[in-house]
Amino acid sequence: MGFSKISCQLLLAAAGVSAKWVVPGARWRDTKGDLVNAHAGGVTVDQETGKFFWFGEYKIEGQVEGGGISVYSSEDLVTWEPHGLALKPIEGHPYIDTHHIIQRPKVAYSDDTGKYHMWWHADNSTYGWLLQGFAQAENITGPYSFVDATLPLGNWSQDFGMFTDYKDGKTYALYSNGDRKEGRDVYLTSYNDNITALDKVVHRFDKYDLEAPTIVQTDKSYFALMSHKTGYRPNNVVAFRADKLSGPWSQPFIISPLNTRTFNSQSGFSLRINGTKKTTYLYMGDQWDSISLWESRYIWLPLEVDEEAKTIEAKWHDVYDLDVKTGEVTPINGTTYYSANATTTGEAYHQEANFASQHVITTGISGNDSKVTFHNIAGTGKPQWVSFYYQNTDDMGFGDQPGGTPNRFGGTWQLRRIASVIVNNKTEVVDSLYQRDTHKGIILSTPLLLNLENGTHNTITIGGLFNNQTYSGADIDRLVVYPPEE
Ligand SMILES: *[C@@H]1O[C@H](CO)[C@@H](O)[C@H](O)[C@H]1NC(C)=O
Ligand SMILES: *[C@@H]1O[C@H](CO)[C@@H](O)[C@H](O)[C@H]1NC(C)=O
Ligand SMILES: *[C@@H]1O[C@H](CO)[C@@H](O)[C@H](O)[C@H]1NC(C)=O
Ligand SMILES: *[C@@H]1O[C@H](CO)[C@@H](O)[C@H](O)[C@H]1NC(C)=O
Ligand SMILES: *[C@@H]1O[C@H](CO)[C@@H](O)[C@H](O)[C@H]1NC(C)=O
Ligand SMILES: *[C@@H]1O[C@H](CO)[C@@H](O)[C@H](O)[C@H]1NC(C)=O
Ligand SMILES: *[C@@H]1O[C@H](CO)[C@@H](O)[C@H](O)[C@H]1NC(C)=O
Ligand SMILES: *[C@@H]1O[C@H](CO)[C@@H](O)[C@H](O)[C@H]1NC(C)=O
Ligand SMILES: *[C@@H]1O[C@H](CO)[C@@H](O)[C@H](O)[C@H]1NC(C)=O
Ligand SMILES: *[C@@H]1O[C@H](CO)[C@@H](O)[C@H](O)[C@H]1NC(C)=O
Ligand SMILES: *[C@@H]1O[C@H](CO)[C@@H](O)[C@H](O)[C@H]1NC(C)=O
Repeated sequence: MGFSKISCQLLLAAAGVSAKWVVPGARWRDTKGDLVNAHAGGVTVDQETGKFFWFGEYKIEGQVEGGGISVYSSEDLVTWEPHGLALKPIEGHPYIDTHHIIQRPKVAYSDDTGKYHMWWHADNSTYGWLLQGFAQAENITGPYSFVDATLPLGNWSQDFGMFTDYKDGKTYALYSNGDRKEGRDVYLTSYNDNITALDKVVHRFDKYDLEAPTIVQTDKSYFALMSHKTGYRPNNVVAFRADKLSGPWSQPFIISPLNTRTFNSQSGFSLRINGTKKTTYLYMGDQWDSISLWESRYIWLPLEVDEEAKTIEAKWHDVYDLDVKTGEVTPINGTTYYSANATTTGEAYHQEANFASQHVITTGISGNDSKVTFHNIAGTGKPQWVSFYYQNTDDMGFGDQPGGTPNRFGGTWQLRRIASVIVNNKTEVVDSLYQRDTHKGIILSTPLLLNLENGTHNTITIGGLFNNQTYSGADIDRLVVYPPEE
């Protein structure tokens, strides 16, 4: 994109600010200022120190598979220190070569072996093997040495998840068994006591054709969360509930407002935070970007459980404070600015929209002179999160539209648009706002960290710069400006 280099500099300058709040869908940066590169991963709590270790797929620009498995550590689930690759791909290796699929890693400590055991979906580049990989390390951050890649109890295994029951410490594997007609199930299978091999099938979620499984355990229930199969495009994640892992399991139900496609994310992992004041359940989803996979982001949200109603629900917050000691989640309040009050130029205009704030949405924003400017925005002179509420009605080729249908502008569907964002007319500092497809009438938000000046005279302009897409900006509903972190 034409302006991505400049925006990187802007963000690196802001990276000195130590993160404190969770901002779902933002560019998360590690303590060195690099993007947190741990996709479709899992978080393991070190039993001795209570520290969190995040393992995930490492992806660099232009590369799809075989990047190995990265590891980061944190005490607060927000500040992430990188520890490099926990599992390095090995050129020419039969299972962990740079061309192989090394996906959805999870790590558990084995008391018996005194080692950390890493398991993942191991495959060749065309998903022809459907194996589970196993590697071990003495230290949680690795290096992990490859042990084996096997068919679980002789069957196939694609998307891989892992779950440890907090009541008895037993560990289980969760895996979908692929897309073939004979597959399309999700298995819940226990490990042996030393987590070196699978033991026995505890339950099979039969023929639902779901993937990306994770289990949330509350005091009374187990909730198994899984996504539908729409590739890198998000869908409405579902949950099943049971009293026991062996079932009976409930009917599946959707865990987020309909058509938000789980706030544009896919399930994959979850964490139970047993705080001193509250137990919090965290949904840890991936917001895939199939156009540039390495730029995929993370959507972590608190899950609200109602044991009476037997429901679990992901709750959206633009910005929230997560206290891992007390377990409390505190949403941060911001100031809202409506697009009905913003000015437009060129072909951008206010259009009636009964689902939008003040029944007006701003549309026609493009890379030429068609832009929308918000005025009189209060700033502090410090970097602040700004959430852009937008609607993107491009059709993603699934769900309500058949694949390949041209969108209403005559182009082919795209996973997301990118609009330029300029603060106070400073065109030398431009940021790029990624606006993934939402759905007609569905308004979601995506954040940027912006430098607003101290005072109430700030302007924020969306659109206006060519970014290599014919129709760049999605429709804008409103902005919410958050206070600086500190
Ligand atoms: C636009 O995209 C094309 C194809 O991805 C690329 O070759 C070209 O360099 C881009 N142009 C600009 C101005 O970014
Ligand atoms: C992957 O494995 C399957 C099954 O052995 C095989 O048919 C396919 O050709 C393999 N793909 C590649 C790229 O080697
Ligand atoms: C494990 O970590 C310790 C220090 O944290 C280090 O001394 C030791 O060499 C590491 N072991 C391996 C196998 O890397
Ligand atoms: C293997 O998969 C087949 C087909 O889903 C199933 O009938 C069989 O029970 C599975 N075996 C095990 C041990 O999971
Ligand atoms: C793990 O346990 C199994 C039996 O459950 C045993 O056969 C195997 O030797 C053990 N492996 C290790 C590395 O302890
Ligand atoms: C939760 O944490 C408390 C201490 O805050 C501890 O006493 C208790 O055993 C923990 N419960 C579980 C189920 O982990
Ligand atoms: C946010 O606003 C709500 C409603 O006014 C209030 O109850 C809450 O305490 C505020 N939160 C913070 C972090 O200030
Ligand atoms: C936005 O516009 C409406 C009517 O157009 C007006 O009533 C309201 O005061 C304006 N709000 C702000 C913050 O300017
Ligand atoms: C934007 O400007 C380019 C170059 O001047 C032109 O080719 C394109 O048609 C314009 N697009 C729109 C939507 O006006
Ligand atoms: C931004 O630039 C436009 C035209 O270049 C000008 O009309 C406007 O007053 C400027 N706004 C600010 C806040 O400087
Ligand atoms: C921001 O401006 C206010 C008054 O306009 C002033 O009191 C305050 O010190 C300024 N803050 C900074 C960080 O400059």
